[in-house]
Amino acid sequence: MRAAIEVEHLTKRFGSVTAIDDLSFTVREGAVTGFLGPNGAGKTTTLRIILGLASPTSGTVRVQGVPYAQLAEPARVVGASLERAGFHPGRSGRNHLRALCAMARLPMSRVDEVLELVDLAGPAADRRVGGYSLGMRQRLHLAAALLGDPAILVLDEPANGLDPQGIRWLRDTLRGLAREGRTVLVSSHVLAEVAQTADDVVVIARGRLVDQGPVDRVGSPEPEAVIVRAADDGLARLAAAVESAGGGVERHEGWLRVTGVAAATVGEAALAQGVALHALYEQRASLEEVFLRLTEGEGAAA
Ligand SMILES: Nc1ncnc2c1ncn2[C@@H]1O[C@H](COP(=O)(O)OP(=O)(O)OP(=O)(O)O)[C@@H](O)[C@H]1O
Ligand SMILES: [Mg+2]
Repeated sequence: MRAAIEVEHLTKRFGSVTAIDDLSFTVREGAVTGFLGPNGAGKTTTLRIILGLASPTSGTVRVQGVPYAQLAEPARVVGASLERAGFHPGRSGRNHLRALCAMARLPMSRVDEVLELVDLAGPAADRRVGGYSLGMRQRLHLAAALLGDPAILVLDEPANGLDPQGIRWLRDTLRGLAREGRTVLVSSHVLAEVAQTADDVVVIARGRLVDQGPVDRVGSPEPEAVIVRAADDGLARLAAAVESAGGGVERHEGWLRVTGVAAATVGEAALAQGVALHALYEQRASLEEVFLRLTEGEGAAA
């Protein structure tokens, strides 16, 4: 695995506020990495430092092996969209992109190409940005990030303000960019939003790393319990059998909540007892719960 971005022991203080606290993580080349944390966790600050827009108090960041400032053609290596980047409201989307193209000395032909890529081609591109919806602005941000045809995309909360169709579109677009071999680092404060898009996730809270790894591991918790339904006479026998197999049983009217043993164990106990099951399923925490637990745990430790 090659790292597109390496963050090592990054710390950033604003006066007495420690926004980033000894944060280390890597972003895999050619993958979509979700950068997750609740409000104020330090996501934007970290992205700004990666992009050379802010300097760290200590620690290092490398993009393709070198600090951002040492990239020969940064616009062609990293495309970014940050939350506070503004648009001139009187300019059209197309003119905004033209201005950026000129500044970065990129060919003007890219303007139409990226408008097409983000579904803003047509009359919308020539309307004043001041009249754009939040979703259109997000598309324009992404278009701007794509201008240099960069190998790496750094996107700060690009899903903010998008409706469900917009989020689906963003997801498909980001997956498509990764399929082309690009690296995508995308921040969000909503785990569920990123879970279906990302290959890897980096979770931070209060400026510290909470967890990082493949989204399947971080975002899909182990089952917490097995729920089983059956007629009442069978349930009593099943409960006893599960308990003697080492499971914990919570008894309810018409159903049991079993912990400490696998669903298969419960199913086999039912078969051995001749109990007809009406339902058998695993109970898992929702992604939202996992995320809240991860980030609250860190908060309590801090
Ligand atoms: N320029 C600044 N001056 C002082 N404090 C700052 C500055 N920028 C960020 N902070 C503080 O650093 C911490 C991290 O902020 P940051 O914007 O990076 O969080 P975030 O994860 O992007 O949050 P959000 O989800 O709300 O965008 C916050 O406590 C914030 O108040
Ligand atoms: Mg932010």
